[in-house]
Amino acid sequence: MRKPIVAGNWKMNKTVAEAVALVTDIKRDLAECSGVDVVLCPPFTALSAVSETITGTQLDLGAQNMHWEASGAYTGEVAAGMLRELFCHYVILGHSERRAYFGESDEIVNKKVKAALAANLRPIVCVGEQLEDRDAGRTEAVVEQQVRGSLAGCSAREWADVVIAYEPVWAIGTGRTATPEQAQDVHAFIRSVVREMVDDSIAQSVRIQYGGSMKPANAKELIGQPDIDGGLIGGAALDARSFVEIVQAAL
Ligand code: PGA
Repeated sequence: MRKPIVAGNWKMNKTVAEAVALVTDIKRDLAECSGVDVVLCPPFTALSAVSETITGTQLDLGAQNMHWEASGAYTGEVAAGMLRELFCHYVILGHSERRAYFGESDEIVNKKVKAALAANLRPIVCVGEQLEDRDAGRTEAVVEQQVRGSLAGCSAREWADVVIAYEPVWAIGTGRTATPEQAQDVHAFIRSVVREMVDDSIAQSVRIQYGGSMKPANAKELIGQPDIDGGLIGGAALDARSFVEIVQAAL
């Protein structure tokens, strides 16, 4: 059985004080939660404070991005080792906003994935088609290319630490969610791609989150699909109550 994983992607939201307030509320309900892996991904500036606030709980910390080099002249970037120092265990890589606004290609995402795995950070690798891809019947081709490109060259041992997030771009922040059937179809397809890339055992064990306007009202039905193992939550993760309800829907 795959353990569900629900991650809150706070994007570029929350000051340090606001982040601590939010995580303090989340902690009240989820500190002991062990049936679901719960990951909080605040902006870099709040990682340290959130890390301290969740010490001793079941909650886990994730970052939203990182550079692939370990150190050096890369102004504005943050390395895996710096995240590890703050007790980050996860990092979101290749989010569609990074692909669209910051030019991240599958090749770049792949370098980051490799660097994260080498540093013992679990990558949450995001893939998903644009609306025009879906309308043109290209969803599977686009998603397959992203999965193969972003995760190229990972060993079976490394795959054990990989989480994939399927996020149809047209569903992110739009209030328009994929139907459970649409999402399930793509999740099952991604699993079949992983089977071809590695083997059946990894395909069965890799966790695939759904992301894109997931909220308390639709979480249970989405996560109830056989190949959906949790959620990557944007907007609804900024409110403690909504986020807690989504985690509870995954239990
Ligand atoms: P959303 O964002 O839940 O606000 O649609 C999801 C994401 O971008 O990870």
